[in-house]
Amino acid sequence: MNEKLAALLTDLTQEYVAAFPASQAAHKRAKQHLVDGGSHTLRLFAPFPLYLSSTKGAWLQDLDGHEVLDFWQGHYANILGHNPELIADALSSALAQGKGLQTGHLGELQAEVADILTQRTGAERVRFTTSGSLSSMYAMMLARASTGRDLILKVGGGWHGAQPWALKGIRYGEQGFRSLESLGLPVNIESETLITRFNDPEDLAATFRTHGDRIACFIVEPWIGSAGFIPATPEYLKLARSLTWEHGALLIFDEVISGFRFRAGDLGSMYDIRPDLAIFGKIIGGGMPVAAVAGRSDIMTICGREGERLVHFDGGTYSAHHAALLASKVMLNHLVDNEEVIYPQLAARGEQMRQQVEQVFADEGILARCTGYGNESVPGSSLAMVHFPYDPDLPLLHPEVLWDPQTCDIVLREEVLKLALLLEGVYVLHGLGSLSTMHGEREMRYLIRACSRVAKRIKASSVAEGPPVPSR
Ligand SMILES: Cc1ncc(COP(=O)(O)O)c(C=O)c1O
Repeated sequence: MNEKLAALLTDLTQEYVAAFPASQAAHKRAKQHLVDGGSHTLRLFAPFPLYLSSTKGAWLQDLDGHEVLDFWQGHYANILGHNPELIADALSSALAQGKGLQTGHLGELQAEVADILTQRTGAERVRFTTSGSLSSMYAMMLARASTGRDLILKVGGGWHGAQPWALKGIRYGEQGFRSLESLGLPVNIESETLITRFNDPEDLAATFRTHGDRIACFIVEPWIGSAGFIPATPEYLKLARSLTWEHGALLIFDEVISGFRFRAGDLGSMYDIRPDLAIFGKIIGGGMPVAAVAGRSDIMTICGREGERLVHFDGGTYSAHHAALLASKVMLNHLVDNEEVIYPQLAARGEQMRQQVEQVFADEGILARCTGYGNESVPGSSLAMVHFPYDPDLPLLHPEVLWDPQTCDIVLREEVLKLALLLEGVYVLHGLGSLSTMHGEREMRYLIRACSRVAKRIKASSVAEGPPVPSR
Protein backbone atom coordinates (compact mmCIF):
# COMPACT_ATOMS: atom_id res chain seq x y z
CA MET A 1 0.00 0.00 0.00
CA ASN A 2 1.39 3.42 -0.85
CA GLU A 3 2.06 5.90 1.96
CA LYS A 4 -0.66 8.37 1.06
CA LEU A 5 -3.26 5.64 0.93
CA ALA A 6 -2.08 4.29 4.29
CA ALA A 7 -2.30 7.77 5.81
CA LEU A 8 -5.82 8.28 4.47
CA LEU A 9 -6.89 4.89 5.82
CA THR A 10 -5.46 5.77 9.24
CA ASP A 11 -7.41 9.04 9.29
CA LEU A 12 -10.62 7.32 8.22
CA THR A 13 -10.18 4.63 10.85
CA GLN A 14 -9.71 7.20 13.59
CA GLU A 15 -12.79 9.10 12.48
CA TYR A 16 -14.80 5.90 12.33
CA VAL A 17 -13.74 4.92 15.85
CA ALA A 18 -14.77 8.36 17.12
CA ALA A 19 -18.12 8.36 15.33
CA PHE A 20 -19.32 4.83 16.19
CA PRO A 21 -18.62 4.28 19.92
CA ALA A 22 -21.74 2.21 20.58
CA SER A 23 -20.84 -0.20 17.75
CA GLN A 24 -17.33 -0.47 19.14
CA ALA A 25 -18.67 -1.31 22.60
CA ALA A 26 -21.11 -3.87 21.18
CA HIS A 27 -18.32 -5.51 19.24
CA LYS A 28 -16.05 -5.66 22.26
CA ARG A 29 -18.77 -7.53 24.09
CA ALA A 30 -19.44 -9.87 21.13
CA LYS A 31 -15.76 -10.79 20.96
CA GLN A 32 -15.84 -12.20 24.47
CA HIS A 33 -17.62 -15.37 23.33
CA LEU A 34 -17.92 -15.24 19.55
CA VAL A 35 -14.88 -15.97 17.43
CA ASP A 36 -13.85 -12.57 16.03
CA GLY A 37 -17.16 -11.27 17.36
CA GLY A 38 -19.41 -12.81 14.72
CA SER A 39 -20.33 -15.73 12.50
CA HIS A 40 -19.83 -14.40 8.96
CA THR A 41 -16.48 -12.90 8.01
CA LEU A 42 -17.90 -10.54 5.41
CA ARG A 43 -19.75 -8.71 8.15
CA LEU A 44 -16.67 -8.33 10.33
CA PHE A 45 -14.80 -5.52 8.65
CA ALA A 46 -12.04 -3.53 10.38
CA PRO A 47 -11.73 -1.77 12.74
CA PHE A 48 -15.10 -3.13 13.96
CA PRO A 49 -18.45 -3.64 12.27
CA LEU A 50 -21.57 -1.55 12.39
CA TYR A 51 -24.18 -2.67 14.93
CA LEU A 52 -27.80 -2.05 14.03
CA SER A 53 -30.80 -1.00 16.05
CA SER A 54 -33.36 -1.16 13.22
CA THR A 55 -33.76 -1.36 9.45
CA LYS A 56 -36.44 -0.19 7.04
CA GLY A 57 -36.50 -0.13 3.25
CA ALA A 58 -33.20 1.17 1.90
CA TRP A 59 -32.01 2.37 5.32
CA LEU A 60 -30.29 1.13 8.46
CA GLN A 61 -30.19 2.76 11.85
CA ASP A 62 -27.20 1.91 14.00
CA LEU A 63 -26.68 1.89 17.75
CA ASP A 64 -25.10 5.35 17.58
CA GLY A 65 -28.22 6.76 15.93
CA HIS A 66 -26.81 7.18 12.42
CA GLU A 67 -29.11 6.75 9.43
CA VAL A 68 -27.18 4.72 6.87
CA LEU A 69 -28.17 4.04 3.26
CA ASP A 70 -27.60 0.33 2.71
CA PHE A 71 -26.39 -1.32 -0.48
CA TRP A 72 -25.55 -4.66 1.15
CA GLN A 73 -29.26 -5.35 1.64
CA GLY A 74 -29.02 -8.64 3.49
CA HIS A 75 -26.24 -10.21 1.39
CA TYR A 76 -28.17 -9.02 -1.73
CA ALA A 77 -31.28 -10.94 -0.61
CA ASN A 78 -33.54 -7.97 0.14
CA ILE A 79 -34.82 -7.00 -3.28
CA LEU A 80 -37.79 -5.23 -1.67
CA GLY A 81 -35.57 -3.53 0.92
CA HIS A 82 -35.38 -4.30 4.62
CA ASN A 83 -38.47 -5.61 6.39
CA PRO A 84 -41.00 -5.23 3.58
CA GLU A 85 -44.44 -4.75 5.08
CA LEU A 86 -46.17 -7.38 3.00
CA ILE A 87 -43.86 -10.09 4.31
CA ALA A 88 -43.74 -8.80 7.89
CA ASP A 89 -47.57 -8.65 7.95
CA ALA A 90 -47.93 -12.21 6.62
CA LEU A 91 -45.50 -13.50 9.24
CA SER A 92 -47.10 -11.53 12.10
CA SER A 93 -50.52 -12.79 11.24
CA ALA A 94 -49.31 -16.41 10.94
CA LEU A 95 -47.65 -16.17 14.35
CA ALA A 96 -50.76 -14.56 15.83
CA GLN A 97 -52.74 -17.56 14.57
CA GLY A 98 -50.35 -19.93 16.31
CA LYS A 99 -48.63 -20.94 13.07
CA GLY A 100 -45.14 -20.40 11.79
CA LEU A 101 -42.72 -21.93 14.26
CA GLN A 102 -41.17 -25.32 13.84
CA THR A 103 -43.50 -28.30 13.50
CA GLY A 104 -41.51 -31.03 11.78
CA HIS A 105 -44.67 -31.83 9.82
CA LEU A 106 -45.90 -30.92 6.39
CA GLY A 107 -48.14 -28.06 5.29
CA GLU A 108 -49.32 -26.92 1.88
CA LEU A 109 -46.77 -24.15 1.57
CA GLN A 110 -43.94 -26.41 0.41
CA ALA A 111 -45.89 -27.47 -2.70
CA GLU A 112 -47.04 -23.90 -3.36
CA VAL A 113 -43.49 -22.55 -3.34
CA ALA A 114 -42.20 -25.51 -5.34
CA ASP A 115 -44.92 -24.82 -7.95
CA ILE A 116 -43.78 -21.21 -8.32
CA LEU A 117 -40.14 -22.24 -8.57
CA THR A 118 -40.72 -24.88 -11.21
CA GLN A 119 -43.06 -22.67 -13.25
CA ARG A 120 -40.64 -19.75 -13.21
CA THR A 121 -37.41 -21.66 -13.82
CA GLY A 122 -38.31 -24.64 -15.98
CA ALA A 123 -37.00 -27.05 -13.34
CA GLU A 124 -38.95 -30.29 -12.94
CA ARG A 125 -38.31 -31.12 -9.29
CA VAL A 126 -37.26 -29.19 -6.23
CA ARG A 127 -35.92 -29.90 -2.80
CA PHE A 128 -35.56 -27.19 -0.16
CA THR A 129 -32.60 -26.56 2.11
CA THR A 130 -31.74 -23.78 4.54
CA SER A 131 -28.72 -22.32 2.70
CA GLY A 132 -27.04 -21.86 -0.64
CA SER A 133 -24.00 -23.71 0.72
CA LEU A 134 -26.01 -26.83 1.44
CA SER A 135 -27.73 -26.54 -1.92
CA SER A 136 -24.46 -26.41 -3.82
CA MET A 137 -23.13 -29.36 -1.84
CA TYR A 138 -26.20 -31.47 -2.58
CA ALA A 139 -26.18 -30.45 -6.24
CA MET A 140 -22.57 -31.62 -6.50
CA MET A 141 -23.38 -34.90 -4.73
CA LEU A 142 -26.24 -35.46 -7.19
CA ALA A 143 -23.88 -34.72 -10.08
CA ARG A 144 -21.16 -37.06 -8.82
CA ALA A 145 -23.61 -39.85 -8.11
CA SER A 146 -25.58 -39.56 -11.33
CA THR A 147 -22.49 -39.44 -13.55
CA GLY A 148 -20.36 -41.82 -11.50
CA ARG A 149 -17.50 -39.30 -11.77
CA ASP A 150 -15.43 -37.44 -9.24
CA LEU A 151 -14.35 -34.05 -10.58
CA ILE A 152 -16.08 -30.75 -9.91
CA LEU A 153 -15.24 -27.90 -12.27
CA LYS A 154 -15.79 -24.35 -11.03
CA VAL A 155 -14.56 -20.91 -12.03
CA GLY A 156 -11.84 -18.96 -10.28
CA GLY A 157 -13.41 -16.54 -7.81
CA GLY A 158 -16.76 -18.35 -7.93
CA TRP A 159 -18.31 -18.52 -4.47
CA HIS A 160 -20.78 -21.37 -4.00
CA GLY A 161 -20.83 -21.31 -0.22
CA ALA A 162 -18.78 -22.87 2.53
CA GLN A 163 -18.84 -26.56 1.70
CA PRO A 164 -15.87 -28.81 0.90
CA TRP A 165 -15.91 -28.98 -2.93
CA ALA A 166 -16.53 -25.26 -3.19
CA LEU A 167 -13.67 -24.19 -0.96
CA LYS A 168 -11.06 -23.87 -3.63
CA GLY A 169 -10.11 -20.97 -5.90
CA ILE A 170 -11.97 -18.17 -4.14
CA ARG A 171 -9.36 -15.76 -2.80
CA TYR A 172 -6.96 -14.25 -5.27
CA GLY A 173 -3.32 -15.01 -4.47
CA GLU A 174 0.03 -15.30 -6.17
CA GLN A 175 -1.20 -18.19 -8.29
CA GLY A 176 -4.44 -16.39 -9.12
CA PHE A 177 -7.59 -18.22 -8.00
CA ARG A 178 -6.03 -21.62 -7.42
CA SER A 179 -5.57 -22.37 -3.77
CA LEU A 180 -7.52 -24.33 -1.20
CA GLU A 181 -9.34 -22.00 1.16
CA SER A 182 -9.30 -24.09 4.29
CA LEU A 183 -7.60 -26.74 6.30
CA GLY A 184 -9.66 -29.66 7.47
CA LEU A 185 -11.04 -30.60 4.05
CA PRO A 186 -11.22 -34.19 2.78
CA VAL A 187 -7.84 -35.06 1.23
CA ASN A 188 -9.16 -35.37 -2.32
CA ILE A 189 -10.67 -31.91 -2.58
CA GLU A 190 -7.43 -30.40 -3.88
CA SER A 191 -7.38 -32.79 -6.84
CA GLU A 192 -11.15 -33.17 -7.28
CA THR A 193 -11.98 -29.49 -7.67
CA LEU A 194 -10.73 -28.02 -10.95
CA ILE A 195 -10.61 -24.30 -11.65
CA THR A 196 -11.23 -22.58 -14.97
CA ARG A 197 -11.29 -18.86 -15.82
CA PHE A 198 -14.75 -17.28 -15.95
CA ASN A 199 -15.73 -16.04 -19.42
CA ASP A 200 -12.78 -17.79 -21.03
CA PRO A 201 -14.07 -20.21 -23.70
CA GLU A 202 -10.59 -21.45 -24.64
CA ASP A 203 -9.73 -22.39 -21.08
CA LEU A 204 -13.08 -24.12 -20.64
CA ALA A 205 -12.65 -26.11 -23.85
CA ALA A 206 -9.08 -27.04 -22.91
CA THR A 207 -10.17 -28.23 -19.45
CA PHE A 208 -12.85 -30.45 -20.97
CA ARG A 209 -10.37 -31.78 -23.55
CA THR A 210 -8.02 -32.84 -20.74
CA HIS A 211 -10.44 -33.96 -18.02
CA GLY A 212 -13.81 -34.29 -19.80
CA ASP A 213 -14.33 -37.99 -19.09
CA ARG A 214 -13.89 -37.41 -15.33
CA ILE A 215 -15.86 -34.20 -14.87
CA ALA A 216 -19.13 -34.72 -12.99
CA CYS A 217 -20.30 -31.13 -13.33
CA PHE A 218 -19.42 -27.61 -14.24
CA ILE A 219 -20.93 -25.21 -11.71
CA VAL A 220 -21.08 -21.55 -12.69
CA GLU A 221 -23.06 -18.42 -11.95
CA PRO A 222 -24.58 -17.02 -15.15
CA TRP A 223 -23.78 -13.64 -13.61
CA ILE A 224 -20.78 -13.97 -11.36
CA GLY A 225 -21.61 -12.48 -7.96
CA SER A 226 -19.12 -11.75 -5.22
CA ALA A 227 -16.19 -12.19 -7.61
CA GLY A 228 -17.22 -9.11 -9.55
CA PHE A 229 -20.84 -8.73 -10.77
CA ILE A 230 -19.90 -9.69 -14.31
CA PRO A 231 -22.37 -11.28 -16.71
CA ALA A 232 -21.30 -14.43 -18.50
CA THR A 233 -21.08 -13.82 -22.22
CA PRO A 234 -23.79 -15.70 -24.13
CA GLU A 235 -21.08 -17.55 -26.12
CA TYR A 236 -19.44 -18.73 -22.91
CA LEU A 237 -22.63 -20.19 -21.48
CA LYS A 238 -23.56 -21.76 -24.82
CA LEU A 239 -20.18 -23.41 -24.93
CA ALA A 240 -20.58 -24.57 -21.32
CA ARG A 241 -23.90 -26.17 -22.29
CA SER A 242 -22.53 -27.90 -25.36
CA LEU A 243 -19.30 -29.11 -23.70
CA THR A 244 -21.14 -30.57 -20.72
CA TRP A 245 -23.53 -32.40 -23.07
CA GLU A 246 -20.72 -33.61 -25.29
CA HIS A 247 -18.70 -34.95 -22.33
CA GLY A 248 -21.60 -36.35 -20.30
CA ALA A 249 -21.15 -33.89 -17.42
CA LEU A 250 -23.90 -31.87 -15.73
CA LEU A 251 -24.25 -28.13 -16.03
CA ILE A 252 -25.21 -26.53 -12.72
CA PHE A 253 -26.20 -22.89 -12.59
CA ASP A 254 -25.64 -21.26 -9.25
CA GLU A 255 -28.51 -18.78 -9.16
CA VAL A 256 -28.27 -18.00 -5.46
CA ILE A 257 -27.72 -14.32 -6.29
CA SER A 258 -29.15 -14.15 -9.81
CA GLY A 259 -32.40 -16.07 -9.22
CA PHE A 260 -35.32 -13.57 -9.13
CA ARG A 261 -32.80 -10.69 -9.26
CA PHE A 262 -33.14 -9.99 -13.01
CA ARG A 263 -36.63 -11.33 -13.65
CA ALA A 264 -39.22 -13.24 -11.66
CA GLY A 265 -37.42 -16.51 -12.28
CA ASP A 266 -34.02 -17.86 -13.19
CA LEU A 267 -31.40 -15.94 -15.15
CA GLY A 268 -30.54 -18.98 -17.30
CA SER A 269 -33.74 -18.44 -19.30
CA MET A 270 -32.60 -14.97 -20.32
CA TYR A 271 -29.68 -16.72 -22.01
CA ASP A 272 -32.08 -19.35 -23.32
CA ILE A 273 -30.01 -22.05 -21.63
CA ARG A 274 -31.44 -24.74 -19.41
CA PRO A 275 -28.97 -26.24 -16.93
CA ASP A 276 -29.37 -29.77 -15.59
CA LEU A 277 -29.57 -28.46 -12.04
CA ALA A 278 -29.80 -25.00 -10.52
CA ILE A 279 -29.51 -23.74 -6.99
CA PHE A 280 -31.42 -20.84 -5.49
CA GLY A 281 -31.30 -18.92 -2.21
CA LYS A 282 -31.20 -15.31 -1.00
CA ILE A 283 -34.19 -13.56 -2.66
CA ILE A 284 -36.36 -16.68 -2.76
CA GLY A 285 -36.39 -16.77 1.04
CA GLY A 286 -38.14 -13.41 1.33
CA GLY A 287 -35.76 -12.55 4.19
CA MET A 288 -35.88 -16.03 5.75
CA PRO A 289 -33.56 -19.03 5.31
CA VAL A 290 -34.92 -20.81 2.24
CA ALA A 291 -32.72 -22.23 -0.48
CA ALA A 292 -33.33 -24.93 -3.04
CA VAL A 293 -31.88 -27.36 -5.53
CA ALA A 294 -34.06 -27.57 -8.64
CA GLY A 295 -33.65 -29.38 -11.89
CA ARG A 296 -34.15 -32.44 -14.03
CA SER A 297 -36.45 -35.01 -12.58
CA ASP A 298 -34.25 -38.00 -13.46
CA ILE A 299 -31.34 -36.47 -11.51
CA MET A 300 -33.28 -35.05 -8.60
CA THR A 301 -35.12 -38.29 -7.94
CA ILE A 302 -32.00 -40.24 -7.13
CA CYS A 303 -32.29 -38.73 -3.68
CA GLY A 304 -35.86 -39.99 -3.36
CA ARG A 305 -37.58 -43.33 -2.98
CA GLU A 306 -38.00 -43.78 -6.75
CA GLY A 307 -34.23 -43.53 -7.05
CA GLU A 308 -33.60 -45.81 -4.08
CA ARG A 309 -32.24 -42.82 -2.17
CA LEU A 310 -28.84 -43.27 -3.73
CA VAL A 311 -27.90 -39.76 -2.63
CA HIS A 312 -28.53 -38.89 0.96
CA PHE A 313 -29.97 -35.44 0.30
CA ASP A 314 -32.43 -35.12 3.13
CA GLY A 315 -32.45 -34.23 6.77
CA GLY A 316 -32.39 -30.65 7.97
CA THR A 317 -34.46 -30.10 11.10
CA TYR A 318 -35.41 -26.64 9.86
CA SER A 319 -35.64 -27.41 6.14
CA ALA A 320 -38.89 -26.23 4.49
CA HIS A 321 -39.71 -24.33 7.66
CA HIS A 322 -43.25 -23.00 7.76
CA ALA A 323 -42.54 -19.32 8.46
CA ALA A 324 -39.66 -19.30 5.97
CA LEU A 325 -41.80 -20.82 3.23
CA LEU A 326 -44.54 -18.32 3.97
CA ALA A 327 -42.09 -15.45 3.49
CA SER A 328 -40.88 -17.17 0.34
CA LYS A 329 -44.37 -17.55 -1.09
CA VAL A 330 -45.31 -13.91 -0.41
CA MET A 331 -42.04 -12.66 -1.90
CA LEU A 332 -42.20 -14.83 -5.02
CA ASN A 333 -45.86 -14.07 -5.71
CA HIS A 334 -45.18 -10.37 -5.35
CA LEU A 335 -42.25 -10.54 -7.78
CA VAL A 336 -44.24 -12.59 -10.28
CA ASP A 337 -47.29 -10.27 -10.09
CA ASN A 338 -45.20 -7.12 -10.44
CA GLU A 339 -42.46 -8.39 -12.70
CA GLU A 340 -43.12 -5.92 -15.51
CA VAL A 341 -42.76 -2.93 -13.19
CA ILE A 342 -40.11 -4.05 -10.73
CA TYR A 343 -37.36 -5.35 -12.99
CA PRO A 344 -37.25 -2.59 -15.64
CA GLN A 345 -37.24 0.01 -12.85
CA LEU A 346 -34.43 -1.72 -10.97
CA ALA A 347 -32.36 -2.06 -14.14
CA ALA A 348 -32.86 1.60 -15.08
CA ARG A 349 -31.93 2.74 -11.57
CA GLY A 350 -28.85 0.50 -11.70
CA GLU A 351 -27.76 2.07 -14.98
CA GLN A 352 -28.23 5.58 -13.61
CA MET A 353 -26.33 4.69 -10.43
CA ARG A 354 -23.32 3.18 -12.19
CA GLN A 355 -22.98 6.07 -14.64
CA GLN A 356 -23.34 8.76 -11.99
CA VAL A 357 -20.87 7.08 -9.62
CA GLU A 358 -18.27 6.83 -12.38
CA GLN A 359 -18.90 10.46 -13.27
CA VAL A 360 -18.43 11.92 -9.78
CA PHE A 361 -15.07 10.19 -9.50
CA ALA A 362 -14.13 11.32 -13.02
CA ASP A 363 -15.01 14.91 -12.00
CA GLU A 364 -12.13 14.68 -9.51
CA GLY A 365 -9.80 13.05 -12.02
CA ILE A 366 -10.16 9.58 -10.46
CA LEU A 367 -10.63 6.61 -12.71
CA ALA A 368 -13.50 4.55 -11.28
CA ARG A 369 -15.28 1.88 -13.30
CA CYS A 370 -18.38 -0.01 -12.29
CA THR A 371 -19.20 -3.58 -13.04
CA GLY A 372 -22.85 -4.55 -13.15
CA TYR A 373 -23.55 -3.45 -16.72
CA GLY A 374 -25.51 -5.95 -18.77
CA ASN A 375 -24.94 -7.50 -22.15
CA GLU A 376 -27.06 -8.63 -25.11
CA SER A 377 -28.78 -11.35 -23.02
CA VAL A 378 -29.14 -9.45 -19.76
CA PRO A 379 -29.99 -5.88 -20.69
CA GLY A 380 -29.53 -4.34 -17.25
CA SER A 381 -28.92 -5.03 -13.60
CA SER A 382 -29.57 -3.70 -10.13
CA LEU A 383 -26.04 -4.62 -9.04
CA ALA A 384 -22.79 -2.68 -9.05
CA MET A 385 -19.25 -2.82 -7.77
CA VAL A 386 -16.83 0.09 -8.07
CA HIS A 387 -13.27 -0.59 -9.21
CA PHE A 388 -10.21 1.58 -9.55
CA PRO A 389 -8.30 0.14 -12.50
CA TYR A 390 -4.93 1.57 -13.46
CA ASP A 391 -5.69 1.26 -17.17
CA PRO A 392 -8.82 3.00 -18.51
CA ASP A 393 -9.10 0.43 -21.29
CA LEU A 394 -8.90 -2.63 -19.05
CA PRO A 395 -11.79 -4.93 -20.05
CA LEU A 396 -13.68 -5.91 -16.89
CA LEU A 397 -14.65 -9.35 -18.15
CA HIS A 398 -12.82 -11.72 -15.81
CA PRO A 399 -12.73 -11.71 -11.97
CA GLU A 400 -8.91 -11.96 -12.09
CA VAL A 401 -8.50 -8.37 -13.26
CA LEU A 402 -10.72 -7.06 -10.46
CA TRP A 403 -8.74 -8.81 -7.72
CA ASP A 404 -5.20 -8.49 -9.02
CA PRO A 405 -3.46 -5.63 -7.17
CA GLN A 406 -1.40 -5.03 -10.32
CA THR A 407 -4.50 -4.10 -12.34
CA CYS A 408 -6.88 -2.50 -9.79
CA ASP A 409 -6.39 -0.63 -6.53
CA ILE A 410 -7.96 -3.17 -4.20
CA VAL A 411 -7.21 -1.30 -0.94
CA LEU A 412 -8.91 1.81 -2.28
CA ARG A 413 -12.03 -0.22 -3.14
CA GLU A 414 -12.22 -2.61 -0.20
CA GLU A 415 -10.97 -0.50 2.70
CA VAL A 416 -10.77 3.21 1.91
CA LEU A 417 -14.04 3.52 0.00
CA LYS A 418 -15.87 1.37 2.52
CA LEU A 419 -14.93 3.46 5.56
CA ALA A 420 -15.09 6.79 3.74
CA LEU A 421 -18.62 6.08 2.51
CA LEU A 422 -19.71 4.79 5.88
CA LEU A 423 -18.59 8.09 7.40
CA GLU A 424 -20.88 9.72 4.83
CA GLY A 425 -23.78 7.44 5.83
CA VAL A 426 -23.57 4.81 3.07
CA TYR A 427 -22.88 1.09 3.56
CA VAL A 428 -21.23 -0.70 0.64
CA LEU A 429 -19.47 -3.96 -0.09
CA HIS A 430 -16.84 -4.21 -2.85
CA GLY A 431 -17.44 -0.55 -3.63
CA LEU A 432 -21.24 -0.62 -3.90
CA GLY A 433 -23.77 -3.48 -3.87
CA SER A 434 -27.38 -4.13 -4.77
CA LEU A 435 -30.43 -1.99 -5.21
CA SER A 436 -33.84 -2.72 -3.77
CA THR A 437 -37.17 -1.37 -4.91
CA MET A 438 -36.86 1.07 -1.99
CA HIS A 439 -33.85 2.84 -3.48
CA GLY A 440 -35.50 5.80 -5.19
CA GLU A 441 -34.43 9.23 -6.44
CA ARG A 442 -33.80 10.51 -2.92
CA GLU A 443 -31.45 7.59 -2.22
CA MET A 444 -29.63 8.12 -5.52
CA ARG A 445 -29.05 11.80 -4.72
CA TYR A 446 -27.80 10.83 -1.26
CA LEU A 447 -25.40 8.25 -2.70
CA ILE A 448 -24.04 10.58 -5.34
CA ARG A 449 -23.50 13.40 -2.83
CA ALA A 450 -21.63 10.95 -0.58
CA CYS A 451 -19.50 9.62 -3.46
CA SER A 452 -18.71 13.15 -4.55
CA ARG A 453 -17.46 14.10 -1.08
CA VAL A 454 -15.41 10.90 -0.88
CA ALA A 455 -13.92 11.49 -4.34
CA LYS A 456 -12.89 15.00 -3.29
CA ARG A 457 -11.30 13.61 -0.15
CA ILE A 458 -9.38 10.96 -2.08
CA LYS A 459 -8.22 13.60 -4.51
CA ALA A 460 -7.19 15.96 -1.69
CA SER A 461 -5.06 13.22 -0.18
CA SER A 462 -3.41 12.73 -3.62
CA VAL A 463 -4.00 8.99 -3.44
CA ALA A 464 -5.26 8.51 -6.95
CA GLU A 465 -3.54 11.22 -8.93
CA GLY A 466 -3.56 10.64 -12.60
CA PRO A 467 -4.26 12.02 -16.04
CA PRO A 468 -7.78 13.23 -16.94
CA VAL A 469 -10.20 10.33 -16.96
CA PRO A 470 -11.61 9.46 -20.37
CA SER A 471 -15.39 9.16 -20.36
CA ARG A 472 -17.09 5.99 -21.56
C1 LIG B 1 -23.51 -17.42 -5.73
C2 LIG B 1 -23.64 -17.95 -4.34
N1 LIG B 1 -23.78 -19.27 -4.17
C3 LIG B 1 -23.89 -19.82 -2.94
C4 LIG B 1 -23.87 -19.02 -1.83
C5 LIG B 1 -23.98 -19.62 -0.46
O1 LIG B 1 -25.23 -19.31 0.07
P1 LIG B 1 -25.45 -19.27 1.65
O2 LIG B 1 -24.71 -18.09 2.16
O3 LIG B 1 -26.94 -19.16 1.78
O4 LIG B 1 -24.93 -20.55 2.19
C6 LIG B 1 -23.73 -17.63 -1.96
C7 LIG B 1 -23.69 -16.75 -0.78
O5 LIG B 1 -23.32 -15.62 -0.80
C8 LIG B 1 -23.61 -17.07 -3.25
O6 LIG B 1 -23.43 -15.77 -3.45
